[in-house]
Amino acid sequence: MKIEKLEQIYEGKAKKIYSTNNENEVIIYYKDDATAFNNIKKGQILNKGILNARITTIIFEYLMKNGIKTHLIKNISQREQLCERVTIIPLEVIVRNILAGSTAKLFTMEEGLKLDTPIFEICYKKDELKDPMINDSHAIALKLATREELDTIYRETSKINELLKNLFGGIGINLVDFKIEFGKDKDGNIVLADEISPDSCRLWDEKTDEKMDKDRFRRDLGNVEEAYIEVLKRLESTVLV
Ligand code: TMP
Repeated sequence: MKIEKLEQIYEGKAKKIYSTNNENEVIIYYKDDATAFNNIKKGQILNKGILNARITTIIFEYLMKNGIKTHLIKNISQREQLCERVTIIPLEVIVRNILAGSTAKLFTMEEGLKLDTPIFEICYKKDELKDPMINDSHAIALKLATREELDTIYRETSKINELLKNLFGGIGINLVDFKIEFGKDKDGNIVLADEISPDSCRLWDEKTDEKMDKDRFRRDLGNVEEAYIEVLKRLESTVLV
């Protein structure tokens, strides 16, 4: 059956979602729009949609090869992926391997402390509330996820962290932290959804500690597109060999 793109069913800050002629599949379109600090800072990063669609596809394909279930079916254009239709679990799952960003701020500590064991955080994905950090009992009481679902999410997240650390470690990049989201497919399986890109990770060059992620936009460091291109270039060099 030829894939047909039908109407837009959702527009987020960085992506749009379209229904297709298959009720179990959607098309995800990656925009160049960039926001930070819960939509306070707005801008565009040239070609970000193309770069993030490609980066996410490379990373998701690598994770799938290593036993992680995801919503990705395939890329269908430079900015578009065909994905399984899932119901997003309204949690942002964050893993930190090196202290940075909001957690460094929370504890008034300098960024850069290497953590012996990773920190796992969950946030309630709700823009109006500015995605507050919550704990497992909040998530269960608010019926965002069951205990069993949280156990699955943490188990998968931990595996994803190890796989991503290996992937980025192999291309001279330290995976400082990242945010992922999960969805439930039509059979109730929990699968990795959304994206993994320099928008949703902190990536520091191993040699220079230079930032290769959206912090370049958040903190007005310049060369944002160049950093995303460099991440893609390094990922392509490792998956193509
Ligand atoms: P934080 O230090 O600002 O809490 O961010 C932790 C990680 O999560 C970082 O890699 C950026 C990512 N992130 C998102 O992908 N979306 C968000 O809305 C936020 C706040 C962070």
